[in-house]
Amino acid sequence: MQTNLYEQLADELGAHIAARVFAPGDRLPSIRHLAQQKRLSVSTVLQALRLMEDRGLIEARPQAGYYVRHRARLLSVMTDAEHLKEPEYVGITSLLMRILKENEAPGMLQLGSAWPPDELLPIKRMQKTVAAVARREPALLARVSCFETNEPAFVRQIMRRALDWGRPDPAEIVVTSSCTEAISLCLRAVAKPGDTIAIESATYFVLLQLIESLGMKALEIPTHPKTGPSIDALELAFNAGLVQACLFVPNANNPLGCVMPEENKKRLAALLSQHDIPLIEDDIYRDLCFTAERPWPVKAYDTSGHVLLCSSFSKAITPASRVGYVVAGRWAQEVTLLKMVSSGATSQFFQAVLADFLAGSSYELQVRKMRRALAQRICRMSDAVAASFPHECSISEPQGGFVLWVQMPVQVDALALHREAIGEGVAFMPGQLFSASGKFSNCLRLNCGNPWSPAVESAITRLGALVHRAAATPAFRAA
Ligand SMILES: Cc1ncc(COP(=O)(O)O)c(C=O)c1O
Repeated sequence: MQTNLYEQLADELGAHIAARVFAPGDRLPSIRHLAQQKRLSVSTVLQALRLMEDRGLIEARPQAGYYVRHRARLLSVMTDAEHLKEPEYVGITSLLMRILKENEAPGMLQLGSAWPPDELLPIKRMQKTVAAVARREPALLARVSCFETNEPAFVRQIMRRALDWGRPDPAEIVVTSSCTEAISLCLRAVAKPGDTIAIESATYFVLLQLIESLGMKALEIPTHPKTGPSIDALELAFNAGLVQACLFVPNANNPLGCVMPEENKKRLAALLSQHDIPLIEDDIYRDLCFTAERPWPVKAYDTSGHVLLCSSFSKAITPASRVGYVVAGRWAQEVTLLKMVSSGATSQFFQAVLADFLAGSSYELQVRKMRRALAQRICRMSDAVAASFPHECSISEPQGGFVLWVQMPVQVDALALHREAIGEGVAFMPGQLFSASGKFSNCLRLNCGNPWSPAVESAITRLGALVHRAAATPAFRAA
């Protein structure tokens, strides 16, 4: 059968990939280069690349080109496909503290906490900005306001950065001392002890810890590893009167890396309004999403003020600034009051520093650089996991952020595995920390932010060997 030119090119490149001339994570030559080399038109090359994308061989990354995909088994089913469970009180704090302490022991190869890698952060630029602001406004080093939490220049930058999805009213914005503080204040503003908060399954352990510390319950909503929480399941929970508020990370959930499709966000916003239920939206990873377009937050579709959007620049500038914010919708007054009585105003100096940083073009360059590096590092890690772990393992396909979720065979207990891995000098986050009900005992989260190195590669090989051994030992359980 006659094949078209573009099919011939796709077959040829596919054969190179099979022969590992191009290995998983490698960038293919540019479209222009391929067109020149093969004496084909740009549109024929593009057609060939699209066909290869459809065949699952390569993926396009914004502003970076086409990359060879890893071939691990990808997670593709909803977590917890059965019925909604009962709301649960959360109890992960003591386990979390133990794991964090073990992970931070000296000499550990750090695949645990999801801090951004130092070398990707704009530290030099921040040094200059800190010095410039200190020279220009020395008074900010000597005071904080007793009644005004917001530095107007910083609020202007938050509004500017929101222009792609909307025009928040400055009166809705409350500056906080981190995204975590913003979420904590929002939980206190919208719910009370004993209330139930709908969360993604799996979700970031600090969100569970906040719910735990406030004496609230969590209801885990089945979550798809690519599209996020099931809106059908959430509607059932709303109809049954089970939920007083939601707390989601719709753009690049931690740990799954899923991004909720815009249609789901719209439907969610409408449901919130219809049932008069608030959503606390943790939007910290939106700027670090690898999707072709920067996704919008659910807040973009919120016409009734039911969404409280929380974020910070901890992931893309520096976690050391301890400045975050919330666009609090109809709860702005309550959140402002809670902020003042909880921790007083956030450092006006660091608000001014971030405002300066965000006012120029550095931030966009910075997030572009980070997205590109992180997407490559995730790809590399996925490839290494695929090569070292048992083939029954499935992995997430993160659309943003820098963590990878691995589902291992059911008999592998992530806590027991963690103990062994610590003995080998490798730190990761066991799956049990991401559930209110002890789910995900056979899962783990890996931080992919570190630059690829022989040490990281060897850590994944050693971890893979431990998983192989655990998978072959039915009695492998945490003591
Ligand atoms: C989903 C999510 N929200 C919030 C945070 C913490 O942000 P901050 O340092 O601003 O409190 C993290 C950090 O890992 C995170 O993954």
